[in-house]
Amino acid sequence: MEVPLKFAWASLIYLMIGSTMGVVMVLTSLPLIPSHAHVLLIGFVSMMIFGVGYHLLPVFAGTDLYSLRLAEIQFWLQNIGLIGLAFTMPYRFTSNNYQLGTTIFGLVSLLAIYIFVYNVARSIIPPKEIKKI
Ligand code: HEM
Ligand code: HEM
Repeated sequence: MEVPLKFAWASLIYLMIGSTMGVVMVLTSLPLIPSHAHVLLIGFVSMMIFGVGYHLLPVFAGTDLYSLRLAEIQFWLQNIGLIGLAFTMPYRFTSNNYQLGTTIFGLVSLLAIYIFVYNVARSIIPPKEIKKI
């Protein structure tokens, strides 16, 4: 499957999971607010933007995507980071110490975001014209 579609499918799945978490939060007292917020904002909103962005931004700039491989790596890091964050973020509300997990998965998420920015920036900034002698 193409990388933009992978992001779109993941986004739709996170929309269902995140919204379900919202209803669970209304019905119970589980401390899910940060996990809910990030599953929806990184998972649904950002992943849809990553997918659409990978497809459209190079088209707008009249270029090709710099690296499909980097996009694929970002996809997996973003998902691993987010799922890790979702499970460890309630650390502030629990007696268990999940903070180390949040830090590690937060850094994985951040790395994935940087890879997206780098890949798109390299795609839409045109290479310097080779000067003709
Ligand atoms: C079925 C749909 C949803 C339900 C039932 C729901 C429910 C909730 C509840 C109960 C809270 C906690 C509010 C509080 O006590 O402070 C919350 C927080 C939040 N929700 Fe949702 N939500 C839903 C969909 C969404 C969607 C689609 C998004 C974003 C795309 C979203 C983003 C957020 C954010 C960012 C917070 C944290 C707000 C803060 O920082 O106080 N939610 N949601
Ligand atoms: C590298 C990725 C990210 C990390 C590690 C991260 C981490 C955090 C942490 C630790 C909090 C405080 C949670 C708490 O109250 O205990 C937070 C809050 C919040 N973040 Fe992020 N975040 C990331 C990306 C994002 C992105 C991309 C968005 C939006 C598109 C976002 C939106 C929010 C919002 C709305 C809150 C307040 C919601 C709440 O009350 O839980 N974050 N984030």
